[in-house]
Amino acid sequence: MKIVTVVGARPQFIKCAQLSKELRKQAEEILVHTGQHYDYEMSKIFFDELSIPTPDYNLEVGSGSHGIQTGKILMGIEDVLIKEEPDFVLVFGDTNSTLAGALAASKLGIKVAHVEAGLRSYDRTMPEEINRVLTDHLSDLLFAPTKSAVANLKKEGITKGVHNSGDVTVDALEHARSIAMKKSTILDTLDLTSNGYLTLTMHRPANTDDHNRLRTIIGALGKTGYPIVFPAHPRTRNALKDSGLLERMPPNFRIIEPLGYVDLLRLMSEARCIVTDSGGIQKEAFLLGIRCVTLRENTEWTETLVDGRNTLVGANETRILNAINAPYSSKRSKVMPFGKLGAPSRIAKIMASQ
Ligand code: UD1
Repeated sequence: MKIVTVVGARPQFIKCAQLSKELRKQAEEILVHTGQHYDYEMSKIFFDELSIPTPDYNLEVGSGSHGIQTGKILMGIEDVLIKEEPDFVLVFGDTNSTLAGALAASKLGIKVAHVEAGLRSYDRTMPEEINRVLTDHLSDLLFAPTKSAVANLKKEGITKGVHNSGDVTVDALEHARSIAMKKSTILDTLDLTSNGYLTLTMHRPANTDDHNRLRTIIGALGKTGYPIVFPAHPRTRNALKDSGLLERMPPNFRIIEPLGYVDLLRLMSEARCIVTDSGGIQKEAFLLGIRCVTLRENTEWTETLVDGRNTLVGANETRILNAINAPYSSKRSKVMPFGKLGAPSRIAKIMASQ
């Protein structure tokens, strides 16, 4: 069996690392990097740290509007698929690379497998929600990470080819966490004490492109009294510059370059609290047993909203501060909504048996 795997953005590199190893035991894998993320800190560092094979193709599409980026990826992938004639195209998550990979394949009559199928925030203002819904409806094999993802697909009439495989992030996190605890020196480098700081990640257009919202969030976090370590996504750094906020950041902020997975995991593991608008980080905080405060009004990872482990606070100062200061039991959850270790090998076996 021949599989073309499509990745392009940071979280996809993390998700594909373990699965790629498993797939290569059973099938021929051709790896395509769309080039959606291209800076060293946004791309190559993940390939190096997680020993991901060098991509066979890099489409180098770079940045652009959604139409331009998706269109360029579509054109590039179509050429690869015509040349390689795979049995399956494998896509991850909900980015423009995901949708373009699925669309190019299905138009050529090539089967599509989607890892992280069935997630819904039911918020169509998020580009990711459009990408998720369309990709699921184009897919032949749908690897749902949770029971609720399976139920979401059923509501849309999708039952064929659906597998509750568990979440590939569980394996990715365990693998990288053991490396992080041995090798990462990020706490010493930044002179941080365990449990004495907050880790912030924020890159959603809803937060970065609305400067009033951005100002409110930064202002609220400035009042927490804790050092805030903020590995800033390029989109966010640009927004901070354009809004004039970068020169007037509250003194407790430490803005640093985006981090690789190993250092980010260490920084998350030892934080008092994680503040984020990312989807994947809400889930990682849950798996690590660290309190998460989410700068959104909704989440596709509803399983994390139990026992105060994750709180949706939007961009409201009072809600942000209350959630950060609420009592919290830091034990890791006994509930395992994302499944046990082994999703990558379960997915590889199902694919190889088609
Ligand atoms: C994308 C995904 C999002 C995912 C995120 C992870 C879509 C619609 N969104 O959002 O779901 O959570 O990746 O990071 O696919 N940029 C650089 N260097 C880079 C990459 C990006 O400078 O290496 C800048 C560019 O100015 C670009 C902007 O960041 O315009 C946004 O990048 P893009 O890939 O379009 O979307 P993300 O916000 O990263």
